[in-house]
Amino acid sequence: TTVLGIEGTAWNLSAAIVDEDDVIAEVTETYRPATGGIHPREAAQHHAMYASNVIERLLNEFRENGHHPKDIDAIAFSQGPGLGACLRTVATSARALAMSLDVPMVGVNHCIAHIEIGRWKTPATDPVVLYVSGGNSQVLAHRAGKYRIFGETLDIGIGNALDKFARGAGLSHPGGPKVEAYAKESTGYVKMPYVVKGMDFSFSGLSTAAKDALSKHSLEDVCYSFQENAFAMLVEVTERALAHTGKNEVLLAGGVGANMRLREMLDVMCDDRGARFYVPERKFMGDNGAMIAYTGLLMFKSGTTTPIDQSHVDPSFRPDTVDVTWITDKHE
Ligand code: ATP
Ligand code: FE2
Repeated sequence: TTVLGIEGTAWNLSAAIVDEDDVIAEVTETYRPATGGIHPREAAQHHAMYASNVIERLLNEFRENGHHPKDIDAIAFSQGPGLGACLRTVATSARALAMSLDVPMVGVNHCIAHIEIGRWKTPATDPVVLYVSGGNSQVLAHRAGKYRIFGETLDIGIGNALDKFARGAGLSHPGGPKVEAYAKESTGYVKMPYVVKGMDFSFSGLSTAAKDALSKHSLEDVCYSFQENAFAMLVEVTERALAHTGKNEVLLAGGVGANMRLREMLDVMCDDRGARFYVPERKFMGDNGAMIAYTGLLMFKSGTTTPIDQSHVDPSFRPDTVDVTWITDKHE
């Protein structure tokens, strides 16, 4: 089975073709804002401008690798969550492509795609997933036919919290990697809010407190303390999800997963609990077309396709509303 997938929920327009074994072709065009954060309208214009070019280059690469477009069985696309204008651009391209190749569409939940590429590209089989990116922060695990959300942010994603703080500190976008670099040079901890409510966490107050702390403390110490608190909150909830579900694997997903301090803290926690900790290769952690194509392949093979009249996008598409038809639950 061969599936072409298109991702474009935010800043990355990326298309890929995969089969069961590997990524056959992939082409990405990244929108980089001149100033500040992502401007949704500009990102959508970027995607619209590059969509046909990206698909053309992808199909050329596919042909060069000895395949033919008629080998493609389905067109997968990121249906949400994400920026509405960006999602609509991607869905429009997917519809046009599905019609011209005369194959079905598969609407993919972006969060689930982050999980499935991790299960594909690491040995993880049934993990507790910590999904941390710009717009999203969730702890998920498979149970009874759904990816259940065990905990999530009550306000903004951890990546956006880091980016917003960094912008306020005069650092350029994306802020996450810069905060990580400054944190390494820190010499002391500054007290910061730690907000876990039940199984959920909140980052907006921490981001603001960090910005205020800059008037009294060094950037290095504030970056360090921000990270320590935010990551401890994420690790606490991940650990409780492990205990609650009885699972013994943790999978890290999303762009913030590039952070070495977060990985270290998760690694220590997993070690303590006798759980295995998995991190996919960097290129599969941030938004990428391969994760949409591969999840589309799993869905397609288990009989799920998306008729055109149900292919509307959903900017707040919740992963726990999707029937996980491609996993048979041993415990049922
Ligand atoms: P989503 O649509 O899933 O929310 P996204 O558009 O935010 O994804 P990702 O590539 O998953 O895209 O994540 C980007 C985020 O990752 C940015 O907020 C960026 O600051 C953050 N990030 C990247 N590298 C690091 C790092 N080393 N440490 C902390 N944060 C990082
Ligand atoms: Fe993402």
